[in-house]
Amino acid sequence: MTRLTTALAAGALVALTGCAPAPQQEAKKEAPAAPSYKAPAVPGFTDMTVPADNPMTKAKADLGHMLYYDKRVSGDESKSCYSCHVKEKGLTDGLPTAVGAYSAKLTRAAPTMWNVGYYPALYWDGRSPSLEKQVLGAMGGGNMGCTGKDGKPDVDGCVARIAGLEGYKKGFEAAFGPGPITKENFAKAVAAFMRTIVATDSAWFKFRSGDTAAFSEAAQRGWKVFSEKAKCTNCHDGLLLTDMQFHNVGIGMDAAKPDLGRGAISKEEKDNGAFKTPTLLDVAKSGPYFHNGSVKTLEEAVDLMSNGGKKNKWLDTTNLKPANLTKAEKADVVAFLKSLDVNYTIPDPTLP
Ligand code: HEC
Ligand code: HEC
Repeated sequence: MTRLTTALAAGALVALTGCAPAPQQEAKKEAPAAPSYKAPAVPGFTDMTVPADNPMTKAKADLGHMLYYDKRVSGDESKSCYSCHVKEKGLTDGLPTAVGAYSAKLTRAAPTMWNVGYYPALYWDGRSPSLEKQVLGAMGGGNMGCTGKDGKPDVDGCVARIAGLEGYKKGFEAAFGPGPITKENFAKAVAAFMRTIVATDSAWFKFRSGDTAAFSEAAQRGWKVFSEKAKCTNCHDGLLLTDMQFHNVGIGMDAAKPDLGRGAISKEEKDNGAFKTPTLLDVAKSGPYFHNGSVKTLEEAVDLMSNGGKKNKWLDTTNLKPANLTKAEKADVVAFLKSLDVNYTIPDPTLP
């Protein structure tokens, strides 16, 4: 976690629960501060960081909540953000690789949205440094299809479509004050909402805080195998079960033209075929697995990982070694993974 902590400290970010960026005296001279809003947080985890220019407010998160669930913001009005990140599927879409607006075939699997606000870098390859940038990326790309090409609306066009609706006029004004509805504020609101997609209720958190009985005996044994014998925690570490780093475990490397993942972004050969360690929260619901959705079941995923991943030139053999698990041990690891479910308590919003 050291690299992560440094990355966070170095960024121009303020702690979510910490002070506003402006010094105290200055704040007094200006209009009274917005009523403090306490966003949900993973119990016992480090504070989330939010960009200084997009502090959390309830008005913003509420607005983002509506926008995130509204299909009218995609190019052909067929997809909302939520369409590919649904609760029944562990906040993914259940497909091997996602299908965007205009039936666009995407090349990667939709990852879960749990706790995305805690990541210093977004996407399987970490190419997006903030949720605000990520929203504009998703809008202008294949996911939401506001590409501005072949007669399709661009991001401004997609945002303008909902700008005339009374409910949104009110929502934007409450969140950002009077003024035109811009794609930048759209992105800020959706990002603020995503920072509230936080897992607060899971047997895993109870277990980790000392309530052993929150887990079945098989799950308890599975955790021991996962963390001790198989050392899965070399990467799936901490309360969120991810080190938020990139590793090559060999998925899809046997393709004719493999997806180089992190390597294509960092341009460093050692990063070829490396992808962000996914959280394993809600993993029982989020199949098919891996960045290319190539594995259908948890059993197969555990087999693959406990055998040391798939051989290729850049495999991370420092952190991932064959663990030689028995059949019973693998079953226990699966029982452990099935105990990482999260209870989803976010209501569907009423759309304007
Ligand atoms: C068509 C399905 C689809 C739609 C619609 C969609 N997404 Fe995604 N989402 C994906 C896929 C696929 C990825 C992974 C892409 C990659 O890593 O290259 C992803 C990745 C993400 C990530 C990064 C998560 C992480 O762990 O790094 C965030 C955040 C996200 N989406 C939010 C959104 C938002 C906000 C919207 C609406 C503006 C949206 N998504 C619409 C499929 C979709
Ligand atoms: C070297 C770091 C590392 C180690 C050690 C590791 N994993 Fe992973 N794990 C990853 C990465 C990276 C991915 C995503 C790879 C991809 O999609 O290309 C992943 C993906 C997964 C997935 C699929 C999750 C999803 O949402 O698609 C499961 C399940 C999983 N690992 C379980 C395990 C288990 C069980 C162990 C121990 C036997 C383990 N992992 C050890 C890094 C690691």
